[in-house]
Amino acid sequence: MKKHPIFYLIMTLGFIFVTSCSQSTYDDIEADDEPIPDVVTYLDIKPAIDNNCLNCHSNPPQNGAPMSLMNYDNVVEAVLNRELLDRISRNEGEDGMMPLGGARLPQATIDLIFQWEEDGLLEN
Ligand code: HEC
Repeated sequence: MKKHPIFYLIMTLGFIFVTSCSQSTYDDIEADDEPIPDVVTYLDIKPAIDNNCLNCHSNPPQNGAPMSLMNYDNVVEAVLNRELLDRISRNEGEDGMMPLGGARLPQATIDLIFQWEEDGLLEN
């Protein structure tokens, strides 16, 4: 059976509608400047640790660092027993500030890690 031209028109409009919706949703996500998630988990803070701490806190640790921060258990242990939150909060140039010898983390990143602790140090 031959389909009426209107059928093709509706299909085309429908296709454009669907793709334009998903397009703008994607743009919205892209435009967002790393919003703070409702519940912060290890997965949200891992990139910051990986990028700023693993030069030294690798496994095995380098440059005199006393422990690794490679995985969830390591980082939780450092928050609970090694004052990680205090270390990243110190002022640049202050003794013991982490990342050692580097720039202080952006305040938004520090806030995110504090939020992770407040939310219960969830893994994911
Ligand atoms: C350039 C190397 C280097 C980098 C990068 C670095 N650290 Fe360290 N870190 C050290 C060294 C060396 C020590 C031991 C000396 C001290 O306690 O200050 C240390 C100690 C620590 C301690 C205290 C450990 C203890 O047992 O008391 C914590 C917590 C810590 N680092 C967290 C971090 C975090 C979080 C980052 C990333 C934001 C980071 N470090 C980046 C070298 C580094």
